[in-house]
Amino acid sequence: MKKVAVVVGARGVIGANLVEHLKTLDGWDIVGLSRRGGIDEPGVRHIAVDLLDETDTRNKLGSLEHATHIFYAAYQDRPTWAELVEPNVTMLKNVVEAVETAAQDLQHISLMQGYKVYGAHLGPFTTPAKESDPGHMPPEFNTEQQKFLQDKGSRSQWSWSAIRPSVVCGFGLGNPMNLASVIAVYASMSKELGMPLRFPGKMGAYGALLEMTDAGLLAEATVWAATTPACANQAFNINNGDLFRWETMWPRIADYFDLDVAPPLRMSLADTMADKEPLWNSMIERYDLLPTPYADVAAWPFGDFVFGWDYDFFADGSKARRLGFHRYAETEKMFFDIFSDLRRRRIIPSRTREVRR
Ligand SMILES: NC(=O)c1ccc[n+]([C@@H]2O[C@H](COP(=O)([O-])OP(=O)(O)OC[C@H]3O[C@@H](n4cnc5c(N)ncnc54)[C@H](OP(=O)(O)O)[C@@H]3O)[C@@H](O)[C@H]2O)c1
Repeated sequence: MKKVAVVVGARGVIGANLVEHLKTLDGWDIVGLSRRGGIDEPGVRHIAVDLLDETDTRNKLGSLEHATHIFYAAYQDRPTWAELVEPNVTMLKNVVEAVETAAQDLQHISLMQGYKVYGAHLGPFTTPAKESDPGHMPPEFNTEQQKFLQDKGSRSQWSWSAIRPSVVCGFGLGNPMNLASVIAVYASMSKELGMPLRFPGKMGAYGALLEMTDAGLLAEATVWAATTPACANQAFNINNGDLFRWETMWPRIADYFDLDVAPPLRMSLADTMADKEPLWNSMIERYDLLPTPYADVAAWPFGDFVFGWDYDFFADGSKARRLGFHRYAETEKMFFDIFSDLRRRRIIPSRTREVRR
């Protein structure tokens, strides 16, 4: 019997990689939800919908009577942590209620969370964070979303799982949280300006221990948790399985881009990179890149956020391994693979492609 996955936030850095992974598996039909919509292909149908609008959601999702799994990875950005709660809980509620009404055989709802559950965005938190750690003082949208699922799930036939990645790295454009793109574009522009690669974060962030989550590995883990009965109604930290410090990784990244490395200097990327749109446009022309709008290619505030963590940032990923998910990713290789992918897609320059006029 075919399973039908409703991927919510299918154009996001997490959702798009999940769609790509599901496409490689037998037995799944995929429905992708986003505001932008997408191009349908065999086995994948896209629906453009505003999940903040209850009526639009109900009307557009009324036909999903065969849905068996919801993979929720939509996200509404807001300027403050408190403001994130209302829209993000509303979207989850609207989509779950609409699909539940239409689908008789809804089996599982997977919720994408993150280390914010542990207060990782607020300051030094207990590391390695465990799924069983106590939560922090509200407001916290991830926690409110989980409470909604727990409460509704206790009265429904479907089960749920909550997936907690670290910083997620993968291909995506126009996403507010995509660290690999921030680094790739920052390095490419440093090269264009003839500058060494300088870590722009806090001094203490350079030596802190942290970890990443590869978007492909995350997609595999998400489907694994959603289809493994022993994982029902639980949360799982999902990470690459190795730790690193920027002070070691940064010179390696500089080396990849054939750049010298300079000592760290704290500066706001949001401020410093704000005037670089003309430079970006000139690089598109010079290197024959795809004309990606500057606003879509790198989310500088997210870079400032991640490079500002002057404390350890990692969680215990052993629970997923104990229950049977054993994939790992080497973080340095993950970065290089994403940079090479961005080059292949002609999003960032590769030196050999310079167009001489
Ligand atoms: N990225 C990370 O590093 C990271 C790390 C840990 C946890 N997380 C968590 O993972 C979740 C997903 O993050 P992400 O980075 O993948 O987000 P993202 O790239 O911003 O993608 C969000 C998706 O949600 C869709 N969406 C937003 N508002 C919508 C609306 N009103 N109606 C329909 N669709 C809507 C977007 O549609 P459009 O594409 O059409 O705009 C997009 O497809 C979030 O909860 C985030 O906190 C992310």
